[in-house]
Amino acid sequence: MRMILLLGGAGFVGSCVAHNLLQQRYGLVIIDLFLHHQSVVLPGAVIIRGDFGDEQLLKTIFTTYDIAAVMHFAAYIEVGRSVHEPAAFYENNVVKTKRLFDVMLAYGVKRIVFSSSCAIYAPLFSAEKLTESHQLNPLSPYGKTKCAVEFLLQDYAVAYNFSYVSLRYFNAAGALPEHNLGEQHNPETHVIPLLFKACERQEPFTIFGDDYPTPDGSCVRDYIHVRDLARVHTKALQYLLTGGAALACNVGSGVGHSVKELVAVASGICGQPLATVIKPRRAGDVPFLVADVSRVQDLLDWRAEASLPQIIDDAWQFYQRKQLKNNAAALNLENS
Ligand SMILES: NC(=O)c1ccc[n+]([C@@H]2O[C@H](COP(=O)([O-])OP(=O)(O)OC[C@H]3O[C@@H](n4cnc5c(N)ncnc54)[C@H](O)[C@@H]3O)[C@@H](O)[C@H]2O)c1
Repeated sequence: MRMILLLGGAGFVGSCVAHNLLQQRYGLVIIDLFLHHQSVVLPGAVIIRGDFGDEQLLKTIFTTYDIAAVMHFAAYIEVGRSVHEPAAFYENNVVKTKRLFDVMLAYGVKRIVFSSSCAIYAPLFSAEKLTESHQLNPLSPYGKTKCAVEFLLQDYAVAYNFSYVSLRYFNAAGALPEHNLGEQHNPETHVIPLLFKACERQEPFTIFGDDYPTPDGSCVRDYIHVRDLARVHTKALQYLLTGGAALACNVGSGVGHSVKELVAVASGICGQPLATVIKPRRAGDVPFLVADVSRVQDLLDWRAEASLPQIIDDAWQFYQRKQLKNNAAALNLENS
């Protein structure tokens, strides 16, 4: 059976994509370092705890399994940390990725779906939607690592006939609570889980800047449900397996929501009003980041389906289950 190799397939997006692929009867091999949590349940997948930068491990996998394509989610993802630790980010996100590409070439595997990011674009200070032809000029080292891999992909496509789909995610969110899959970052830097934490602890939620040129003054972002993201990955994989040419496309809902809107929806879903405090703008934050999604709709025949309330509701259900599990584990420890 031909298999798909998922790097970082135990993470938030990777595990939800893996679940979707398993449902469609793909055979999966996953490599993950489990940086944020200890385990993930994906029945039927071969899960290997390891570093995708380990050349020997990759060679063993390519020798043991018939790999048809690779999906590459593995990366350090904290934008703020990347400013202080660029060396670690370039090593994990770029150097190891180049090593991976070279091993893929050596084994004749030339199809890859890559998790890129809207962080590669030059900041845009108006309410326009970002198209793929917008200038690439990332602000953070994190964004630069994603951009560097996109350049590698372009050059490997020309010189070595690599075929790839680079999916430039906007803000991945939501969860698959019914399968116990969702966001578990450590430290958590993403806004929706941080909102839940504030709700649960009855602490005020911090909004950085409410004087942006947006309708309510807070930043506007494009949130995409991980269930929709999982579907677009399967489409991208099918596109490559049927001979599709190299492609980079935005993956978002195409709709912007402000932080204040998020607070209002989350308070409703968590069932309690959430107090907010306004702090100064953060360096590097731009007022609008919303995807133009025409290309992905046209070329991969995909569009996002979930609304913001659905995204937040699913994320809340997952968050509550995770808290229950953590509390039970803490109780067990106390009693043992
Ligand atoms: N979450 C978002 O909103 C978002 C937005 C844009 C792009 N992305 C990109 O999507 C991808 C997945 O993001 P996520 O939110 O699921 O992150 P995540 O941190 O939950 O998942 C990444 C996984 O990669 C693993 N990993 C990291 N380095 C590794 C290594 N050297 N070897 C093996 N495993 C390694 C981690 O253990 C983790 O499980 C990342 O590449 C990220 O940059 C995410």
